[in-house]
Amino acid sequence: MTKPRVLISDKMDPNAARIFEIRGCDVDVITGETPEQLIARIGDYDGLAIRSSTKVTKEILAAAKNLKVIGRAGIGVDNVDIPAASAQGVVVMNTPFGNSITTAEHAIAMIFALARQIPEANAQTQQGLWPKNGFMGVEVTGKTLGLIGAGNIGSIVASRALGLKMKVVAFDPFLTPERAVEMGVEKADLDTLLEKADFITLHTPLTDQTRNILSAENLAKTKKGVRIVNCARGGLIDEAALKTMLDNGHVAGAALDVFQTEPAKDSPLFGTPNFICTPHLGASTTEAQVNVALQVAEQLADFLVNGGVTNA
Ligand code: MLT
Repeated sequence: MTKPRVLISDKMDPNAARIFEIRGCDVDVITGETPEQLIARIGDYDGLAIRSSTKVTKEILAAAKNLKVIGRAGIGVDNVDIPAASAQGVVVMNTPFGNSITTAEHAIAMIFALARQIPEANAQTQQGLWPKNGFMGVEVTGKTLGLIGAGNIGSIVASRALGLKMKVVAFDPFLTPERAVEMGVEKADLDTLLEKADFITLHTPLTDQTRNILSAENLAKTKKGVRIVNCARGGLIDEAALKTMLDNGHVAGAALDVFQTEPAKDSPLFGTPNFICTPHLGASTTEAQVNVALQVAEQLADFLVNGGVTNA
């Protein structure tokens, strides 16, 4: 019997390739190709394992005559044309749990970075300014964290925030009252959250319902002095409105790991006082990248060899 053929087209922990081999697949690791190169190659493969660099467009899918499954080592599948994949019967899987802790920890790091202005204080100290009086911070203890999205990542953020003695108010249409009690959070509607939160952190995918959830109108409903963190998806916050609110001091700080357009090589937010950012590092830890690579390899191999479907 011929072995299923798998292409790993983004950089991934090397153990992923080993798992494919052990599970009975032939695997090639060919990263950094142009779309044209991938179009020329993809017809040979039954499975495709990606992170976020490969964009699986409808042109690539049209050339993927043998493709049965795509596995995203990570959570978001925004880099896959899902309708086109579904139309040709290609299953798309992700690994929803492998990087949740890591992303939650990044959000908590951003909360502290904002509360104590660590990036700017670091920069000025290293410039030799010793700005001891310029950085009055705030404690997070006793503050209210508004959690928009209380799923895998949001619930981990909530548990960490409760450990930091914050109060957590959560808005999530899928959050049941029982689960809210179990998590130790107050379930609220969005307006109540906006009104109460000292810090807001977003943990929801980008959908038609969540796009611009922090619009100019909703940002105006927040408490003066609110600090906002987005380590989920660009497009959840109206970036122009956020800049206005930072400039006029209503928003005391904002930390973005994700942008509406990525890579964000330029943004009106760059250079805005009390704005900090990272280049979509939410999942970038050694532990998370090992987890997602191993999980995606296990899932794809199981599908190709045994027909098992996980996280599709
Ligand atoms: C994810 O969706 O898994 C994260 O945003 C990480 C990433 O895209 O690199």
